[in-house]
Amino acid sequence: MTFEPKEGVTLLYGSNGSGKTNILEGIHYSALTKGFMSAADSDCLFEKSDLFSLHSTFSGENSAEIDVKISFSKKNGKSLLVNNSEIKTFSSHVGTIPCITFAPPEISIITGSPSERRRFIDNIICQSDKKYLKDLLTYRRVLLQRNAVLVQINENKSSLEMLQYWSENLAKLAASIVYTRVQFLERFKNHFRSVFKKLFNDEEPDILYRSIFDRSVKFENIDDISSCYLSKYHENHRYELTRSQTSCGPHRDDLEFFINGKEIRKYASQGQIRTFLIGLKLAMYDYLYDITGKKPICLLDDIFSELDNQRTENVLTILETLGQSIITSTLKRESSMICAVPVLALKNDKDK
Ligand SMILES: Nc1ncnc2c1ncn2[C@@H]1O[C@H](COP(=O)(O)OP(=O)(O)OP(=O)(O)O)[C@@H](O)[C@H]1O
Ligand SMILES: [Mg+2]
Repeated sequence: MTFEPKEGVTLLYGSNGSGKTNILEGIHYSALTKGFMSAADSDCLFEKSDLFSLHSTFSGENSAEIDVKISFSKKNGKSLLVNNSEIKTFSSHVGTIPCITFAPPEISIITGSPSERRRFIDNIICQSDKKYLKDLLTYRRVLLQRNAVLVQINENKSSLEMLQYWSENLAKLAASIVYTRVQFLERFKNHFRSVFKKLFNDEEPDILYRSIFDRSVKFENIDDISSCYLSKYHENHRYELTRSQTSCGPHRDDLEFFINGKEIRKYASQGQIRTFLIGLKLAMYDYLYDITGKKPICLLDDIFSELDNQRTENVLTILETLGQSIITSTLKRESSMICAVPVLALKNDKDK
């Protein structure tokens, strides 16, 4: 199947199960080397298939074409070719084709566990900051090492000196990650507030970063944050040894979302939560464009369900001012600004 979306807003419409989400998933996979709906590559395989392969051409700001061939097979895993050069480190492809998504299950960014919110914030920063992605990957590895040392100390197979070594390493990485997240959030919030103003004038949103430190800690200096972590590890030494787990760090932090001073997941309606999420995603667009100078591709799945007419119109008005958006719906929508494509027409296009 071949799909050539136009510039501006393309609406893919069709009945339930007709393949709309699959197409967005394919574009996302090519841009970020993973699906946005399926956690594992093997979940993206169709029924009894052993492999899938995607070939896409993305057009950059200066019309430079980026040719991406990506495939996955149960036997050989994932392979990625960008402009015919094999890329072994998939993370280096992240950011080349910025992308934002919206899908109904992503509501869990607001209503779900803290890990969903961490993934949200990490995903944006990673697309605009290679060092952050590297720090995050190293942090995960060093965290495992430190936890392993905690186990080994309990078994008398390691020493407190060794723990101190890994604590110092981990504290530095933790500080760098938290510092970057807090800096990011300050900038992101400006974009979010202005998007929100366009969506609904009378509501004032806010986002707070929640960590083990109380609100008075300002996160202004990486060395200071690193020292704070070392003191916390020290303070929680007994707890850490009993559980063989690192007690605090960016892997435990959370975001809190507010509208007009009230925490959103406690009081907002389904429609308000969805619009809040759309606001977050559109602010993500603005942020990435601001930082990278590239217009992200917007993949917005089933975006209008549960939104009233006014909110739907407001979202569409914003989308029309962005770069390329591919949105899906079960219903066709007539508008001079939207190119409506029935998904079945793509499926029947056997020649391509
Ligand atoms: N990994 C998979 N393995 C097997 N079948 C799959 C897989 N992913 C999707 N499908 C099937 O492909 C078809 C198209 O799914 P898709 O989610 O794209 O539909 P959709 O048009 O988005 O539907 P809806 O309007 O309900 O969201 C469905 O029949 C679905 O069950
Ligand atoms: Mg779908």
